[in-house]
Amino acid sequence: MTRPQNENLNRIHPNIIRAYDDRFSAIDDILKLTIGEPDFNVPENSKQAIIDSVTANDSHYGPSRGTVAVREAIAHFLKDRYQLEYDPEENIVVTVGATEAIYDTICAFVNPGDKVLIPSPTFPLYESDTLLAGADPLLVDTSDDDFLLTPDHLKQVITEYGDAIKVLVLNYPGNPTGRTYSAETLQALAEILDGTNIVVIADEIYSELTYDGPHHSIATYLPEQTLVLNGVSKSHAMTGYRLGFIAGPADLIKGPAQFHQLAVTTNANPVEAAATVALGTPEGHAATIQMRDAYRQRRDYVVTALRELGFTLDEPEGAFYVFPHVPEAYGEDDEHFVIDLAEQAHVATVPGSAFGPGGEGYFRISYACSQETLEAAMQRIEAFLNHLSK
Ligand SMILES: Cc1ncc(COP(=O)(O)O)c(C=O)c1O
Repeated sequence: MTRPQNENLNRIHPNIIRAYDDRFSAIDDILKLTIGEPDFNVPENSKQAIIDSVTANDSHYGPSRGTVAVREAIAHFLKDRYQLEYDPEENIVVTVGATEAIYDTICAFVNPGDKVLIPSPTFPLYESDTLLAGADPLLVDTSDDDFLLTPDHLKQVITEYGDAIKVLVLNYPGNPTGRTYSAETLQALAEILDGTNIVVIADEIYSELTYDGPHHSIATYLPEQTLVLNGVSKSHAMTGYRLGFIAGPADLIKGPAQFHQLAVTTNANPVEAAATVALGTPEGHAATIQMRDAYRQRRDYVVTALRELGFTLDEPEGAFYVFPHVPEAYGEDDEHFVIDLAEQAHVATVPGSAFGPGGEGYFRISYACSQETLEAAMQRIEAFLNHLSK
């Protein structure tokens, strides 16, 4: 018997990050620095908002794009933090996590044969969703440019592939590198993109976790061609609540809004109530600042500790990942290194090659875990390296 199947599913690689996480989870006494999952609790006023919503029998279908209240809170958030102006009625769609926002936006703009330009190494979902949509990912290796897409590189790729490129995905601060773009670079990229048919999907889910200065959005410089993606997973430790959003010009957001309506109808009312206070109140903002300060301290600790151990790495400006090169003894074999580190030192990390071209030879550490876990992990890595050099 042959079961019917969408052929596009055959094009998608298995999720390597999950596969390694599952494999390493089976190791006794393992310290897991694998998954990008905040270790903080959800802010109290968001928890209370969920309880209140349930108690008030707020149980009926809400508007497809999200309640007016949550869209107003999102518009307030984007204006207050990033000086972006969006009308809650026309310009915002609330999704089930940024994950759904990525799916809706990629699917809305491509047809078979089209290309989606994806600077790499990066979050693997952009490639998978492109393949699912029947289009072709165009992964460009940014490892020679400190993991950032330079204006020259963008120009060169557009010259080579021309109109075949329908979408550019930019993720900053980036997973897995933690790198982000300066206002000047975003402006230079915007100037090249301006007037082309390329839609920019700006995944800014880590925007609130930017440590060394303000976060800038490319939407500031290219408003008519940009859809901004964000959510409360990372900024408010609400990964399990599943709320993200898309913001952009009315004509551009129509297609993603249709995919959203057809696939999920709308997000859940209690979750939207939680996000409304997370994004719309001073308490919600204060909770983010507290988490950001803690992440910044951990970043400083991990970067210093790894450098003292002899690793070479750029200092990440945001998110909660560091992306060092594997020790020389392993050459570019990042998979071999992370397997040895997990099996011999009981420290689980993710090989850089799981994030696409340019990731080979590196490995990702997530520091969204306690300081004690990080200190214990660094001690184990030190012992592992000492053993290695004997
Ligand atoms: C770059 C990036 N975008 C999107 C997501 C998914 O976010 P959400 O939990 O809102 O679906 C993640 C999660 O790790 C991520 O790293």
